[in-house]
Parts: sequence; C-alpha cells; structure tokens
Amino acid sequence: MAKKTTKKTTLLIENIGQLVTMRGPIPRRGKAMSEIGIIENAFVAVSGSEITVIGHMNEITGNVDPAENCSVISGEGRVVTPGLIDPHTHPVFARTRELEFEMRLAGKTYMEIAEAGGGIRSSVRHLREIDDKTLYKNAKKTIDTIMSYGVTSMEAKSGYGLSTEAEIKMLKVIQRLNEREAMDLYPTFLGAHEVPDEYRDDREAYIDLVINEMIPAVAEQKLAQFCDIFCEEGVFTVEESRKILVAAKAAGMIPKLHADELKSTGGAELAVELGAISADHLGCISDKGIEMMAGSDTIAVLLPGTTFALALDEIAPARKMIDQGVAVALSTDCNPGSSMTESLPMIITLAALKLKMTAAEALSATTVNAACAIGMGDNLGRIEIGLPADIVVWDMRDYRELPYHYGVNLVEKVIKNGKIVVGA
Ligand code: NIG
Ligand code: FE
Repeated sequence: MAKKTTKKTTLLIENIGQLVTMRGPIPRRGKAMSEIGIIENAFVAVSGSEITVIGHMNEITGNVDPAENCSVISGEGRVVTPGLIDPHTHPVFARTRELEFEMRLAGKTYMEIAEAGGGIRSSVRHLREIDDKTLYKNAKKTIDTIMSYGVTSMEAKSGYGLSTEAEIKMLKVIQRLNEREAMDLYPTFLGAHEVPDEYRDDREAYIDLVINEMIPAVAEQKLAQFCDIFCEEGVFTVEESRKILVAAKAAGMIPKLHADELKSTGGAELAVELGAISADHLGCISDKGIEMMAGSDTIAVLLPGTTFALALDEIAPARKMIDQGVAVALSTDCNPGSSMTESLPMIITLAALKLKMTAAEALSATTVNAACAIGMGDNLGRIEIGLPADIVVWDMRDYRELPYHYGVNLVEKVIKNGKIVVGA
C-alpha cells in the first residue's frame, strides 16, 4: 500500500486506529455507500498541501522521509477521516431569527411566517442594511464554527439580497472569505430564493430581473459556480424554476434546486431534466422523482437538521432512495430560518436516527457524495495519494461513535491543505 515518495514529509499522522480513506466508487450508491475503506493501525504522510504516502504502521520505515521541521501527530489509536464537506449552506446573513422559532413552537408554520412577511424576507431587509465588514465578520464566525466541527470545504449561497446590488454584495463577501480564510467555499447564486417585498405584486418582473440583470452580472463577474432556486408551492413554481435555471445554465452556471421540501411539486424530476448537480431537501419527493434520480448523476442532498428544526412529519425517504440507487449526500443547511446549526456531526446523528442511515453511509454522504454535489468528486472527500491533505483527527476509537456520541464536538484536529487549522 505504501509507495515510496521522493517528497519530504512535512506532516505525519501516525498510530491511527482507524484510517477512513473512503477509497471506492464515486459517487457511492446503494450498498457501496457502506464501503469506507478503513486501514487499521495506519499512518498518513503529507508533503506541503498534498497527501503523499498512506499505509500500515509497519510500512512506515523506508517509505517516509521526514523534513527537518516535520510536524508529527500521534493518533493514539484514534479515528482519522477525510475533511467533511458541507454541500448546502446559507452562512452569510445579518441576524438570527429565534423569534420565528418561538412562533413555530406556538403553532405557526414556516410558510405561514413567510407569507406574513417574515422568513427569508425578514433576512433580506436586514441584509440590505448591514455593511460589508460586519457581514464578513458574522459569516467568518459561522464558517469558523463549521470548520471546528470537521468541515474543510463547503458550498455557500447568496439569496438574502434579492436585488442585483445586495446579491453581489453577498457573493463578494463569499469571494473574500474564500480568498482569506482556511475554508474552501464553493459559491452559489440564489437570487430566486423568494420574491422580495417590492415585487410582491409583480412576480413576473422579479423573474425578469433575475434572468436579465442578476444572472448576467453574476456570470460576468464570475461570482458563482452554481445557480440555485427555492422551487416550492408558494415560492417559485416548476415552470418558473425551469425558466430561471435554463437562463443560468446558458450563462455558464450549474443548476441546483431546493426541491420538494414541504410539498411534492416535481422538483426532483425538474432537477434530473435539467441535469442539475444536486436536488436538495426532498422531504416530499415522489416515487417517480426517486426513480429518475437513481438513473441520473444528480446528487440528493438531504437535510435532516431542517426537518428536525421545523418539526416536520414528512422526512426524506432516505432508505428507499439509497436502496434504489440514488447517490445521497448530507448537509447542515446552516441558515438562520430553518436550520440554525453549524454542526455536520449533529446532522450525521439525525441522519442515523431519523433517516435510518448507518455511520458508514453517513460518512459516504458527507465526504465523497458531498464532494460530487459541489463538482469536486475527483478531488475531495478521500484520503488518497495526490489529493489535498484535508484531514480530521477525531477523539474516538471507532467511526461508529460519530452518530452515537451526539451534541458534543469530538473533533480533535482539522488539517486543511496540510496545515493544522483547528487544535494546533
Ligand atoms: O434551505 N428552503 C429555503 N431556504 C432555506 C431557508 C432559508 C430561510 O428560512 O432563511 C432552506 O431551508
Ligand atoms: Fe437551503
């Protein structure tokens, strides 16, 4: 397994109890979602930002040549995994919305609050007022917390601006965070997150603005790789979603969808029709939607934190989807409205308890399959020679502790591009 390299080792993790490499098919489907490629009693050698050697401890001699200042981490029998990937987040916002949480506890639904002018539209009013510096500072805190829970790459959406100027302001904050902070951010334009206050009487005009002004501006400035839409009864219809995403595709952006979250509207079917990279939520996906997704490359990003925090009865039929061959990923959906959490491990616990996914399936869903949902399936989500050294050392001795030991942070160290960024 170990292969000699001429590169000097700058970081060595040794005495690893379980090295979860995730080598295997990309993406994982069906039974393959349980394959996580464990090497017991293992080491990983890193040179600069790249993984250069992996193997059993008894293969270390002769295969690793440490540089003078090589950092050595003793795994002490612990679990080591690839850095987790969070493929669906809304981390740039001005304020939290805990009052809406209380309103829901008192019996109001997410949609009732939205229709009364709260929800996404309240986040939009606040975001338009806040200055870029404060927005950056708030988002940095969120992203740092996400990283402290073991995430090394994440998708990040706009969607609280809903004017050309405010959407660009959000995407520029994401761009600056990506340039300056350790986390790698994959930006998504979500101008069609909701119809803003000033267009409530003329939704057609808002859709025209998204298509004719926002998409060209975002594409021209290369601010987003993906274009997402909230395709949902009471927000954007399937026809409107198709129109917007076709325009985004023509402008060079890759479609993603918030689909079938609260009602079954044919969002999953539309995602497959458009060749979307992912369809997300899917709490109310139809049987036809499952069948179509199973035969496609579109990744199903499930968000059990959202159904948990909204206390919804209808949850994504994950078992059925996995058994039928849909490639399933998991994400926090970190946002101030429907899922205020930065903890992807907490989502893994919810995936186990609510979606009946095993620890191994949840690992596939937060590494390899999550990488595919952001177009990085060939490069991220595995511990393999030549890939970026994005690695997590966990304070656990068996990977199955991940869903089981919940509500605490079991991350000991996070390594991003070969550098220790958490737990140094
Ligand atoms: O993924 N469903 C739509 N968008 C977000 C919620 C956004 C918000 O309420 O602020 C979601 O759940
Ligand atoms: Fe979302």
